[in-house]
Amino acid sequence: MNVSIFGLGYVGAVTAGCLVRDGHTVVGVDTDERKLAFMRDGKAPIHEEGVDALIREAIESGRLTVTNDCEKAVNETAISLVCVGTPSAPDGSLGTLYVTKVCEEIGDAIRGKESFHTVVIRSTVVPGTTIELLKPILEKHAGDSPFGLAMNPEFLREGTSIKDFYDPPYTVVGTESADVFSQVCELYKQSGGDRIHCSVAAAESIKYACNLFHATKITFANEIGMVCKNAGVDCREVMDIVCRDTKLNISNKYLKPGFAFGGSCLPKDLRAFSYLGRTQNTSVPMFDAILKSNRDQIEHAAHRIMALGSRKVAMMGVSFKEGTDDLRESPLISLAEILIGKGFDLLIFDPNVEYAALFGSNKRFIEIHFPHLKRALCSAETALKHGDVVVFGHKSDVYTPLLSKIEEHQTVFDLAGIGGPEEIKGHYNGLYW
Ligand SMILES: NC(=O)c1ccc[n+]([C@@H]2O[C@H](COP(=O)([O-])OP(=O)(O)OC[C@H]3O[C@@H](n4cnc5c(N)ncnc54)[C@H](O)[C@@H]3O)[C@@H](O)[C@H]2O)c1
Repeated sequence: MNVSIFGLGYVGAVTAGCLVRDGHTVVGVDTDERKLAFMRDGKAPIHEEGVDALIREAIESGRLTVTNDCEKAVNETAISLVCVGTPSAPDGSLGTLYVTKVCEEIGDAIRGKESFHTVVIRSTVVPGTTIELLKPILEKHAGDSPFGLAMNPEFLREGTSIKDFYDPPYTVVGTESADVFSQVCELYKQSGGDRIHCSVAAAESIKYACNLFHATKITFANEIGMVCKNAGVDCREVMDIVCRDTKLNISNKYLKPGFAFGGSCLPKDLRAFSYLGRTQNTSVPMFDAILKSNRDQIEHAAHRIMALGSRKVAMMGVSFKEGTDDLRESPLISLAEILIGKGFDLLIFDPNVEYAALFGSNKRFIEIHFPHLKRALCSAETALKHGDVVVFGHKSDVYTPLLSKIEEHQTVFDLAGIGGPEEIKGHYNGLYW
């Protein structure tokens, strides 16, 4: 394919070299004359093992040329990859100066072009940027000339970028067009991993979710490390063994958005570990923030339910998770407490929770925190008949059949990911969907 790459930095230069190695013809575009001169001489503009040889090979093959002439680059190619920088603005927001400028230039060039052109945003941009900011710029500058558009996040890491180019976790292409999806996949024929077609905003978001997850993992390990070190424990041994659990730890468990956590262990253990840190004069700000964030999820859910406009609410599931009667620190109990406190008329169905059968610390917890439970518990039928808003806190075979009984005037507020709008007659809502 004939490809133009805008921005010959860490991402653009490596991508240019690898695409040429894979048989494509590439025109690299940059505004930095020094970079262009370097590359024309067959030298890499970045320092990383293997990249010098990659660029030299590409230039010598005659299939990599570089220029500052955007119009020429667009005219000579069928597809443009935008790899310019998106540094932080002083207030922390995404710096869009370079991506907007480059889209203006590419749009102008498309206006005069006879054949169809595709623009692929590879720069990291926050959700909404491509469709709400860059697409209108391209449209304005391209005039009546049609173009394809995709968001294709980059996952390579500096230091191992050539290896990562050929062995990415996957290739994500966010586009509204099946043809553009195939065209972008064609580019990366030599690279491994699955090809994933999703919406443009999902593609933008996936890049952030991945990077934030990586940053969170590092901080998690360091905060564990700090407290362990002070307690005289070898944190490397601890984390090595933590990572050997691929069932619960290094797995897709606990990575589903929906609602807050609770129960008799997670909140208590977070508090104890943070407290231990404080006694060591060690700060563990990420662990400290987790309980606050978790509390915010509960308050957020309460506000969303209150905003639905009816005071008659049914709650399906109330224990801290399905399949147990343990109510201790259940986020659904906290939600129920807020709603009852605000004067909502709440009934609860949970087949695992029988008031008379509660005892020990479970009973004490409920007597102190939610004495209304006895009065609120009822059958599924009574709860369903009562609630204009039906909150699903649990997902299991007990609850799923209840979805078909939802009537048109009712609103499902799904905290458990139990279904979707297509499965019910009434309205469908959730905290994060
Ligand atoms: N560096 C990484 O490891 C990495 C990995 C994944 C994603 N990303 C993302 O990819 C994007 C690029 O990152 P980078 O590290 O390669 O940036 P970089 O700063 O190294 O390179 C950007 C290049 O764009 C050029 N440029 C600016 N305006 C231009 C214009 N109008 N026309 C042509 N060229 C122009 C600059 O001169 C520069 O050479 C960023 O959004 C970044 O977040 C980077």
